Amino acid sequence: MEDTLSLKNSFLKESKSATSVAKLQQLRIKYLGKKGLITSKLKALSTISPELRPAYGKVVNEVKVYIEEEINRIESLLKKEEHKKRIVSEAVDITLPGKFTPFGREHPINKVLSEITVIFVSMGFEVEEGPDVELDYYNFEALNMPKDHPAREMQDTFYISEDIVLRTHTSPVQIRVMEKRKPPLKIIAPGKVYRCDADISHTPMFHQVEGFMVDTDVAFSDLKGLLESFIHSFFSAETPVRFRPSFFPFTEPSAEVDIGCIFCSGKGCRVCKNTGWLEILGAGMINPRVFEMVGYNPEIYSGFAFGMGIERMAMLKYSIDDIRLFFENDMRFLKQF
Ligand code: PHE
Repeated sequence: MEDTLSLKNSFLKESKSATSVAKLQQLRIKYLGKKGLITSKLKALSTISPELRPAYGKVVNEVKVYIEEEINRIESLLKKEEHKKRIVSEAVDITLPGKFTPFGREHPINKVLSEITVIFVSMGFEVEEGPDVELDYYNFEALNMPKDHPAREMQDTFYISEDIVLRTHTSPVQIRVMEKRKPPLKIIAPGKVYRCDADISHTPMFHQVEGFMVDTDVAFSDLKGLLESFIHSFFSAETPVRFRPSFFPFTEPSAEVDIGCIFCSGKGCRVCKNTGWLEILGAGMINPRVFEMVGYNPEIYSGFAFGMGIERMAMLKYSIDDIRLFFENDMRFLKQF
């Protein structure tokens, strides 16, 4: 019996250091578990003589009930405390300033691209697109540049295979559209193009907008008028424009279009190499050979085409002197537009 009472005392001592629900659980197992100290006292009852058994049993049972109640009491205290602590530790301080999520914005290239698109759409052009990975046929052959044509060398081409290239310009979209549609056509085709070239004015990937118009009586004067009004709305109404004779295999005659240098107002500077003019696009009347390739009768139809680089347009409009800035993803640069 003394043994049983001393168990009660040792439990009381130990229960003082049960400072968590987990520790208390260990105590419960130690005393009341299947092989616990109290449980084994209860089991030992059968070995005690029948006369002593009731008195002894009563003591063991009282101690057992006492320990049970004590454990339950301490447990509910501990649980309450742990709950309080959690509320404090998990509390949200609503007086703290919120976390700042920076906003993204449109990339300057996309911005200029949509400005250009809006101008042409307002003049009745439709937008079409073609694939970046293009057949040699569409990129060169059908544009009157057969294999071994010297003009192919002007465009440092990335070849995927003998017949497949990364398109070097957006002109293949002319062929794709004319193959599946009949005139009259007024189309612009923006997109990415690729050339194996890299320096302060060239990146291996850049953007172009192609434009073309085909109908029964399209004249060079239509091309001139259209491009002049485009340039005046994109840059300014005072921007001087000039057409210079040039050559492209898919246009005849061909021209290069310059604007008066916007850095020196035509006086001559480093950017325009003292000419007072900046080249901004290539253009011309669609070569009858190209019409033949797509099954249009060149006796009936005429048309013009032009192509411009978006990066170049953006650089001129915003006085940017290094094309690589567009692709370095420096937020300080990108945030300015
Ligand atoms: N595709 C030509 C280039 O990238 C530009 C161009 C387009 C010229 C349409 C004439 C007509 O250099």
